[in-house]
Amino acid sequence: MEITEKQLFDVASQAMENAYAPYSHYTVGAAVLCDDGKIYSGVNVENASYGLTNCAERTAIFKAVSEGAKHVSKIVITNGTQELSKPCGACRQVMSEFMDSDDIVFLANKTNDFKEYTFKEILPLAFSDKDMD
Ligand code: THU
Repeated sequence: MEITEKQLFDVASQAMENAYAPYSHYTVGAAVLCDDGKIYSGVNVENASYGLTNCAERTAIFKAVSEGAKHVSKIVITNGTQELSKPCGACRQVMSEFMDSDDIVFLANKTNDFKEYTFKEILPLAFSDKDMD
């Protein structure tokens, strides 16, 4: 069965329930669709030593890559507020390692309002391996 975008949104929202955000109380859920046809979810995982916090997007991507996936074609990022999610700079750079320019980024809120972007729209002038050729 083909994975629908609705499934990706549902996985991100459901995952968000597991966000570990006792410090910021800002919960984030992410779901990535990979070329292996699987969806991997992620949440933000905070730490008393604040700087060790891992964002939801990176959690999802690291889970995917550690299970053998190499490429993310779509990502949904949601959060527990009415504002649309905005991935931080570190997450955009990590996304650039595993997403191509025209891959799809859905930035959503807690009621599943969203805007759709291509990856290059959210990270123009990305630094990549090609810069080191
Ligand atoms: N956070 C994410 O999970 N993703 C982002 O791209 C933005 C920030 C998390 C990290 C921290 O747990 C909380 O949101 C507040 O910064």
